[in-house]
Amino acid sequence: MAVIMNGKELGVKIREGIKIKSETLRKKGIIPCLAVVLVGEDPASLSYVNSKEKALHEASMESRDIRLPANTSEAELLTLITDLNKDDKIHGILVQLPLPKHINEENIISAIDPKKDVDCFHPVSVGNMVLGKKGFLPCTPHGVLMLLKEYNIPTAGAKVVVVGRSNIVGKPLANLLIRKEYNATVTICHTGTKDMVSHTLQADILIAAAGVPEFIKPEMVKDGAVVIDVGINRVNDTAAKKGYRLCGDVDPAAAEKASFFTPVPGGVGPMTIAMLLQNVVEAAG
Ligand code: GUN
Repeated sequence: MAVIMNGKELGVKIREGIKIKSETLRKKGIIPCLAVVLVGEDPASLSYVNSKEKALHEASMESRDIRLPANTSEAELLTLITDLNKDDKIHGILVQLPLPKHINEENIISAIDPKKDVDCFHPVSVGNMVLGKKGFLPCTPHGVLMLLKEYNIPTAGAKVVVVGRSNIVGKPLANLLIRKEYNATVTICHTGTKDMVSHTLQADILIAAAGVPEFIKPEMVKDGAVVIDVGINRVNDTAAKKGYRLCGDVDPAAAEKASFFTPVPGGVGPMTIAMLLQNVVEAAG
């Protein structure tokens, strides 16, 4: 039987440490605060930002919750970011993605002061991360690395296959894994990859971040591989109370071939939030 990697439990442990740091900052008169900006009413995004805000409060931090209508203009959002950049009470700025189609995400992300870019999405933050310079680490990739460390899974010399090339997960995670400290050999698979199975079957550590429900099937997983599922997909399910259920990018049957795997929910998701909180407390300190 595979070991289930419990991100929920590890997330709680990490957040306890963050709370202590936050309380120490409060004693010095600094109240760590993250501005959380949501444009529109996408139910999944709303649920994510609510979870982030709840976690901030539980860790003795504050959030400035900003909810804007879907028809907010790019200019209005840029003005808001400029104001938040100047606001000394705000240590971090998070603009939940995706943004409505009429807003250019790149323009918005680039407007955030890199010192407050706790998501590590700004081109300067990404550049610093790739070059191994000081700065925030991206939350989901950092969360995956922390999970691997917690379960003593060696990355040095391991063959890691990342399925997905997003700016949020695939690209930064591959970059971090090739750092000397992790020393992994990394392959990134994407929609243009030919014969994907030939790649995934070689993976000692297979990371699914494709955003496609149950994309990784049992025949794509090497026996005994570590399988990390970054996907959180809502799929319609009339039998479920809410009319949908959450599922990952890995078919649960594939997890049975693994030596370790992350559940969805309760695997990578809570780690993303813990790493976000860590960046906020660092930004404030
Ligand atoms: N959308 C999906 N994941 C994320 C994230 O980690 N940060 C932000 N800002 N938006 C997201």
